[in-house]
Amino acid sequence: MLEISGQQLLIDPFIISNPNVENFDIGQIRPDYILVSHAHGDHIAELETIVGNSGAQLISNYEIISYYAQKGIYGHAMNHGGKYQFEFGTVKYVNAVHTSTFPDGSNGGQPGGFVIWNDHNCIYFAGDTALTLDMKLIPMTCPKLDAAVLPIGDNFTMGYEDASIAAEFVKCDTIVGCHYNTFPPISINLDEARKTFEEKGIKLHMPAFGESLEF
Ligand code: NI
Repeated sequence: MLEISGQQLLIDPFIISNPNVENFDIGQIRPDYILVSHAHGDHIAELETIVGNSGAQLISNYEIISYYAQKGIYGHAMNHGGKYQFEFGTVKYVNAVHTSTFPDGSNGGQPGGFVIWNDHNCIYFAGDTALTLDMKLIPMTCPKLDAAVLPIGDNFTMGYEDASIAAEFVKCDTIVGCHYNTFPPISINLDEARKTFEEKGIKLHMPAFGESLEF
């Protein structure tokens, strides 16, 4: 969950389906918007429940928005390279190198990431992605990043070594790790990950469940 301009943006809702999370009531999560980077089950598991509780508006690629529109869930469709001004600020949908098929086999379009900014702050959510040279376009086309949320778990996405290069590509020295330690194939050594970033003068945050960070 990201709070910006007084609005709450939930990104890739996979909360109580996460085997690391116990005894949490998702009824307390009432975002204004839900951003979906791609259609994999570990990014949408609680989407319909949370929309039902909150009436949140979706922001995602065209295919994902069309999929949920058939279920009566409203959203704003984007595609790669496009940006749009919402009430909380601007969202740009940027490239990610990954796949995006729904658990039921439906087409989830091409996966992406989001750069989100207002007049004061800018943050990049990479989504699930490999390291890609396209990341170099972000500092050329978006405001200076205050933070970037990058996958570091390896196997399905880049690992922390490549993520430390991604941090350099996007010119950001404050990174929040995601997509790690959820399942055995993406278990990592947290000390090694932290050290890999530290050696480049980059701070890697790996917040515990429920912890907040301010940028
Ligand atoms: Ni994925």
